[in-house]
Amino acid sequence: MDAIFSRHCLDCHASQDPEHGLVLENYEALMKGGETGPAIVAEKSDESLLIQMVEGRFEKEGKIKVMPPGKRKKLAPEEIAALRAWIDAGAKEPITPPIARELSVPRIVPKATPRNPVNALACSANARLVAAGRYGQVQLQDAKDFRLIRTLSGPKGNVNTVLFSPNDSEVFAAGGEPAIGGEVRQWRVADGELLHTFPVTKTPFMPWLFLRMPQSWLLAAMIRK
Ligand code: HEC
Repeated sequence: MDAIFSRHCLDCHASQDPEHGLVLENYEALMKGGETGPAIVAEKSDESLLIQMVEGRFEKEGKIKVMPPGKRKKLAPEEIAALRAWIDAGAKEPITPPIARELSVPRIVPKATPRNPVNALACSANARLVAAGRYGQVQLQDAKDFRLIRTLSGPKGNVNTVLFSPNDSEVFAAGGEPAIGGEVRQWRVADGELLHTFPVTKTPFMPWLFLRMPQSWLLAAMIRK
């Protein structure tokens, strides 16, 4: 399905400026349909607008609407048959587990113990702590002598930003790997217990920066694509 839509339809039905509001990039959008209504009627490929259009059977205001329109190459009978078969089988969401993507970088074995640089720092006046965000971990250190109090593991990838909650009882960190995904984690400062993990996996971006509004206890994560 994805392959057919990518080849023949996404030029005009991608999420950016889709023709007639119809986006064919993902399952949810496909099932939502466009301005005319649902494009897919589950189990009824004959009645599905999308099939009627790719087969050139849809008429509006006396004009046949064929997809793809104009001089563009039409779908092959096998492609239409594949779409029909999927609709007649119930138009179910394809169960494709999200591909665990890895950054493909050359493996270079370090000759010396690599440093794990600090990418982000936050300071808590009440708890007298410094939180240092490094690759894949946050270290809580004593603000006076930098003695390591505890290491909080995650988020995956580089930790780009750390922040204490207004009363200093919790600490947040956001990190990720560019183009793969990110994560925001929340820990209790007192015992280092992980309270929440907010994954950012559907679209590949990474959390970049926290802003804290002192009055409203609102946390905003700036996201960098
Ligand atoms: C060159 C651009 C272009 C391509 C490629 C294209 N479409 Fe369209 N599509 C349109 C336009 C323009 C409309 C609005 C047609 C109208 O009603 O005048 C439309 C409308 C539709 C609609 C009706 C949406 C609604 O609710 O009104 C469906 C369904 C559709 N297209 C499916 C497809 C499919 C499936 C493909 C690929 C096989 C495809 N289109 C490829 C331009 C395109």
